[in-house]
Amino acid sequence: MILKVARLGHPIVRTRAREVTHEEIAGAEFQALVDSMIETMREYNGVGLAATQIHLSLQLAVLEVNGNPRYPEAEAVPLTVLVNPRLTILDDSRIVGWEGCLSIPDLRGAVPRYKRVRVQALGRRGEELDFEASDFHARVIQHETDHLRGEVYLDRLPDMHSLSHLAEFQRFVVDARARQS
Ligand code: NI
Repeated sequence: MILKVARLGHPIVRTRAREVTHEEIAGAEFQALVDSMIETMREYNGVGLAATQIHLSLQLAVLEVNGNPRYPEAEAVPLTVLVNPRLTILDDSRIVGWEGCLSIPDLRGAVPRYKRVRVQALGRRGEELDFEASDFHARVIQHETDHLRGEVYLDRLPDMHSLSHLAEFQRFVVDARARQS
């Protein structure tokens, strides 16, 4: 089922999500929710979606990058479900990259993110996940875990001057870069 995405200004987007219990994970309702979040992320060409974005205060996020038209240059990331994720910074150098958000439609901003993180979480069946992510993969995970604390990428913009509408971003950043190369 495709879910309605909450936009910035709805209080749920600013809510710190609560942890998901093992009992909840075991339920059919939770599994159906995960399927709906994946379907919703794909419908809107997101590379990630957090539960707070679909009006639920749960530490649950899905992510996937696979030939995404909103991020055509991004390296692929397999479909991942993160429940109660915890991040450890492995490389505290930060890389500036462009981000958008389904809850903040039609905008892009340049956001610094840690280059490399360790991710500890539960998977959709309650299995323990422990992996390292770097570059765009690490960026997506940091963006989604921010959502679970009620934070959005705008909070991390060091310079609001980078903020751009998507069409202008395409014209003045992507197309301009293509002309130079
Ligand atoms: Ni977002």
